[in-house]
Amino acid sequence: MAGGTFVSTGEVKNYGGKVTVFVIMTCMVAATGGLIFGYDIGVSGGVTSMESFLFKFFPSVEQKMKNAHENQYCKFDSQLLTSFTSSLYLAALVASFFASATTRALGRKVSMLIGGLVFLVGAILNGAAMNVEMLIIGRLLLGVGVGFANQSVPVYLSEMAPAKLRGALNMGFQLAITIGILVAQLVNYGTNQIKEGYGWRISLALAAVPAFIMIVGSVFLPDTPNSLIERGHQEKAKTMLQKIRGTDDVNDEFLDLVDASEASKQIQHPWRNILEPKYRPQLIMSIAIPFFQQLTGINVIMFYAPVLFKTIGFGDNASLMSAVITGLVNVGATFVSILSVDKYGRRFLFLQGGAQMLICQILVGVVIGLQFGTTGVGSMSKGYANLVLILICFYVAAFAWSWGPLGWLVPSEIFPLEIRSAGQAINVSVNMLFTFIIGQIFLTLLCHMKFGLFFFFGGFVLIMTLFIYFFLPETKNVPIEEMNGVWKNHWFWGKYIPDEAVIGAHGHSKAKTDA
Ligand code: GLC
Repeated sequence: MAGGTFVSTGEVKNYGGKVTVFVIMTCMVAATGGLIFGYDIGVSGGVTSMESFLFKFFPSVEQKMKNAHENQYCKFDSQLLTSFTSSLYLAALVASFFASATTRALGRKVSMLIGGLVFLVGAILNGAAMNVEMLIIGRLLLGVGVGFANQSVPVYLSEMAPAKLRGALNMGFQLAITIGILVAQLVNYGTNQIKEGYGWRISLALAAVPAFIMIVGSVFLPDTPNSLIERGHQEKAKTMLQKIRGTDDVNDEFLDLVDASEASKQIQHPWRNILEPKYRPQLIMSIAIPFFQQLTGINVIMFYAPVLFKTIGFGDNASLMSAVITGLVNVGATFVSILSVDKYGRRFLFLQGGAQMLICQILVGVVIGLQFGTTGVGSMSKGYANLVLILICFYVAAFAWSWGPLGWLVPSEIFPLEIRSAGQAINVSVNMLFTFIIGQIFLTLLCHMKFGLFFFFGGFVLIMTLFIYFFLPETKNVPIEEMNGVWKNHWFWGKYIPDEAVIGAHGHSKAKTDA
């Protein structure tokens, strides 16, 4: 999820007003942006495991599959095939920079509209693809759509929602992503039943549905008060705020929004500011967290689960059904996270999730290694294949209640306002970049590193868990203006932060850290 000026859960100022039906409706429509992102993550894995799709566009894979008895690890290794999956994230990375400018200058809903329209064209092109070029151009357009949606929707949601709901909405966007993945996996399972072999077209084209909802939605959605103020429409902004909060008494919040808008105009060089030594810990976290989130290897499962399950011997349908099971676990465990993040804190979930993922990865590596060895020749018994599926479900659950949502939440809440949008942009870009890289190299890595690949990702999970243990202070319940104090009190980062950096707008710092 991503971009823009997220307001963190730490900011607990309560202006009153109610959670109106109007605000819930607008947020639900806007959340289709998360569905779109998720649908794309989930859909590619399913279609790339369908033989009618593979044989039409990727003949080299067909050849390898015929020789599959020789080496299971390399059956699907094709640069073109991985480009189909991963090109989307490269386009999303580039587009999110443009989207950031549009979101500011023309408003959030214009960005959502652009995202929806480009996305719709990409979906149609994919569904109608006659050759691999059309497929990849379609994927690139989908990526542009995702870039715009990921940039504008979270900003829209955080600005429409009352302060007390912002944290929940931040997690809600991740929930929308996981639901999008699950829907795509279910659609893939359904379309694979079509015997004539055009099911993949339906899977790819159905991405047009959430895009259509987003287009219609963004035409009718109101602009956020923040965006109206930013563009000089103060009166309209106040009326809108009264409407979405369901009360005429919005003066406090309105004046704060005007102040915040003025303050952000004063910030000339957020990109230069973010490099100042006092922001070093936050800067490092905004790079390390998305990097590690992707190096957990989660998208190997999200992109290639059906391919992976086919590799270990499941049939077509069983592979797609197994992907659906991982998708269900992903959605369910995200709920666990939403319910527990403010109770157990970020550090506990990060550490527990990391440990559980590591154990699962080691076991998966051992089972696959014992069955296929280093040559990749052989087959896996049903019992072992089921064991791998169960281990992968435990791994997905651990990710979904820890690094999945927290990988987005924590970077969004650790930055002070003056550099928050720059920090978010770094977080999103690093995330997209490594999503792209992992998507692009996974099948080749599997072919060369074999079962060792699971230990490779496990190694990163071990490093990142230690990293969190030593370097991430707890940010649960820390008000945003006291966030700097958390770093100052930290055993390691404290040495690098000048004392004056801790004195925030309120001239004090009480924050404590348990790291
Ligand atoms: C997070 C990750 C994304 C992954 C998803 C799986 O949103 O950023 O890459 O596909 O979780 O649920």
